[in-house]
Amino acid sequence: MRTVYLYHLLYLLLLVAHLCSVSSWKREEFRNCNQTPFCKRARSRKPGSCSLIAADVAIADGDLIAKLIPKNPPLEEQEPIKPLILSLSVYQDGILRLKIDEDPSLDPPKKRFEVADVIVPEFLDKKLWLQRFSKETIDGDSEDSSVVYLSDGFEVVLRHDPFEVYVREKGGKRVVSLNSHGLFDFEQLRVKKEGEDWEERFKGNTDTRPYGPQSISFDVSFYGADFVYGIPEHATSLALKATRGPGVEESEPYRLFNLDVFEYIHDSPFGIYGSIPFMIAHGKARGTSGFFWLNAAEMQIDVLGSGWNAESSISLPSDQNRIDTLWMSEAGVVDAFFFVGPGPKDVVRQYISVTGAPALPQLFSTAYHQCRWNYRDEVDVEMLFPNPEEMQKKLAAKGRHMVTIVDPHMKRDESNHLHKEASNKGYYVKDATGKDFDGWCWPGSSSYPDMLNPEIKSWWAEKFSYENYIGSTPSLYIWNDMNEPSVFNGPELTMPRDALHYGSVEHRELHNAYGYYFHMATADGLVKRGDGKDRPFVLSRAFFSGSQRYGAVWTGDNTADWDHLRVSVPMILTLGLTGMTFSGADVGGYFGNPEPELLVRWYQVGAYYPFFRGHAHQDTKRREPWLFGERNTDLMREAIHVRYTLLPYFYTLFREANMSGIPVVRPLWMEFPADEATFSNDEAFMVGKSLLVQGVYTERAKKVSVYLPGRQSWYDLRTGTIYKGGVTHKLEVSEESIPAFQRAGTIIPRKYRFRRSSTQMVNDPYTLVIALNNSQAAEGELYIDDGKSFEFEQGAYIHRRFVFSVGKLTSLNIAPSAPGNSQFSSNCVVERIILLGHSPGPKNALIEPANRKAEIELGPLHLRGGNSPDVVTIRRPNVGIADDWTIKIL
Ligand SMILES: *[C@@H]1O[C@H](CO)[C@@H](O)[C@H](O)[C@H]1NC(C)=O
Ligand SMILES: *[C@@H]1O[C@H](CO)[C@@H](O)[C@H](O)[C@H]1NC(C)=O
Repeated sequence: MRTVYLYHLLYLLLLVAHLCSVSSWKREEFRNCNQTPFCKRARSRKPGSCSLIAADVAIADGDLIAKLIPKNPPLEEQEPIKPLILSLSVYQDGILRLKIDEDPSLDPPKKRFEVADVIVPEFLDKKLWLQRFSKETIDGDSEDSSVVYLSDGFEVVLRHDPFEVYVREKGGKRVVSLNSHGLFDFEQLRVKKEGEDWEERFKGNTDTRPYGPQSISFDVSFYGADFVYGIPEHATSLALKATRGPGVEESEPYRLFNLDVFEYIHDSPFGIYGSIPFMIAHGKARGTSGFFWLNAAEMQIDVLGSGWNAESSISLPSDQNRIDTLWMSEAGVVDAFFFVGPGPKDVVRQYISVTGAPALPQLFSTAYHQCRWNYRDEVDVEMLFPNPEEMQKKLAAKGRHMVTIVDPHMKRDESNHLHKEASNKGYYVKDATGKDFDGWCWPGSSSYPDMLNPEIKSWWAEKFSYENYIGSTPSLYIWNDMNEPSVFNGPELTMPRDALHYGSVEHRELHNAYGYYFHMATADGLVKRGDGKDRPFVLSRAFFSGSQRYGAVWTGDNTADWDHLRVSVPMILTLGLTGMTFSGADVGGYFGNPEPELLVRWYQVGAYYPFFRGHAHQDTKRREPWLFGERNTDLMREAIHVRYTLLPYFYTLFREANMSGIPVVRPLWMEFPADEATFSNDEAFMVGKSLLVQGVYTERAKKVSVYLPGRQSWYDLRTGTIYKGGVTHKLEVSEESIPAFQRAGTIIPRKYRFRRSSTQMVNDPYTLVIALNNSQAAEGELYIDDGKSFEFEQGAYIHRRFVFSVGKLTSLNIAPSAPGNSQFSSNCVVERIILLGHSPGPKNALIEPANRKAEIELGPLHLRGGNSPDVVTIRRPNVGIADDWTIKIL
């Protein structure tokens, strides 16, 4: 068994590496809020400084519309303020959409950018056409407010004076509100006056800002909330720390600006590779709510500590656990969504109904990926891979796949036919003067295709056909790197904000979505190649809301230290909460050389990441799992093997995410929303609803504290030892594993045989692990399809529910009957059923309808020895995984 390597994918970085001049994180390369005029200005505004009121309220096209106008007419020497147009629309499942933009009938200098292709078309069909609104006097306001229906339990209030929008429980408590502190501000586009200087300079770069200031900011409050979460990507805790307020150590706001940050630090609100402007609030008093601002410009978000606005004269409901936040964006429009929950899974579902559910990945991509950057130059690459097609075929014969890197920058060289074509067709992003933007990246002088243009997107997608992508085969998949985009000589290592895209959109307006469009075009390319039957796999570094529909992401260039191992867990949990469930961190840390102990611990945690990949920078020592001596190899092999045994469970969870958006890996509070002890726990996490994993994040740890939530018990995954729920256990740990538990009342399908790849496991038999609860009952699910194609969308899959109660296990079909002749079948059987928490005694099991008996054995789980309890195992029941059956314990 020793020689069996369980790695699955071989990543090859077919990169011609020109060493980058930037080698470690340099804070001064990046702007802070004070160096960013719109942020500095918004942050210094005083509560109550918004002087807008809502007027001319009416229903039009099923929306509630109004004008936002200044309360007092401007003084004579002041420029008149044009009214803004506000609209409120209501969608099924308790979703409110608020839009605020300039009035197009007043001829603004240009149309502000609205982010395209993020909202899924099905969402728009869920609009509830408003027919009427009612009037209500609030808090003795001089003017009435307008109230509209949102859902059975909730309604929306548009307060006219002062202007405010909020969602409340019917006739009662507030849930989420906007502009309760009067910080709303909307800089309208204007025509430059003589002598006015709109340019902005940062570190030798000049932003011409031809349209002048155009930022938007406002406050959002969450009621009955104890913590807020979300707004990735930041290397920080799961529960977001306050950035300002009394008793708070003031920090930068959370920045959303996609950047190629070398060696990012592990506890920081600075913006890194991706941005999802979606925040979730959760509290014991009210449950969960959410707020999503669809805007792709640079955003900065403050979480305000309680009491920050003590002097405010605005009367606010005296809700104690309110969390206030300040949202600031450089450009775009207000296109905001309010989600009422009330549970954590409801909020995620509401967000997913707007932005789409995660794609169902191919089965192979849910297994382990082995990756390294180490091929130094062209000659090296050629010597290593003289015949790429042959190599892929050899790997494919073992069930392995290969992934190559494809970046957006294109070398500006006449001998590069892609460049020639793109420049002739005018497919590149333009600079502020209208010429092809020319920036410095890996190949030197480079240009970037403009993925906002649908024509360019499909041109790009075609480049992945087997004819066009020379050397590619059906087992080859893609990784999009550097798509923030990374520009080594650009401001903050990215594209200048005044660069121009399709439709005269400024780069500043869509920056955070550039990588998203690139990822989308690449994934479309993989869908279309060949016969178009296979699901794509495209890993991306940059991401935006909606990226979950196109592939996986990872947390970028982390470092081989314990802090980065620790922070990987909240980072992945946050991505999952905001839709991006197929995510992981580079196991071992990209930069630096991990000690064997750290590497082993990282494999042990990483085996539970939804996206599980070992990867390293070219300057690091080789660190494939088999290079650290027999003992460490065994430990890492065991960690990887645990993942492979759980692949049927993971795949079932990926399908759940694909149907509902509920992430594969979840914070504890998502499963235990009333248990306050879980709210800020980001050391442990749930894999689905049945597994709890606690990482070990310190060197030479002998003991680890683990909080096990709920009233039910938990079973140690390796030994079957039972632990009480609702308490913190101080557990001894060895180097062999990290604490992981199966929740009582659940059934997990597993596959235990060692194979060279996940593809080779497809026909292996299953083991069902049943963890009984106090009422000697348990339940679980299994989803299976061909692991590859889109046929499952036509119903070609198996979906079973296993129910154990009163001494009997039943397998039930829960797949709706497939339309037409789309079917998927499997000859796999169940080779073993393990019952945790069952009293010893039974000798036999009776299988029906076959009316056969299977033997029952009593013994320690996996022969782990020690003082692990004996468990009851039904041996070789050999029932078909796709069939209906029951097994009675006798
Ligand atoms: C599930 O995944 C498939 C394939 O990736 C995708 O086409 C489909 O839209 C997803 N389902 C939902 C509900 O979004
Ligand atoms: C035990 O688990 C079953 C199946 O998950 C569940 O229906 C039942 O409510 C649980 N019993 C208790 C006491 O929690």
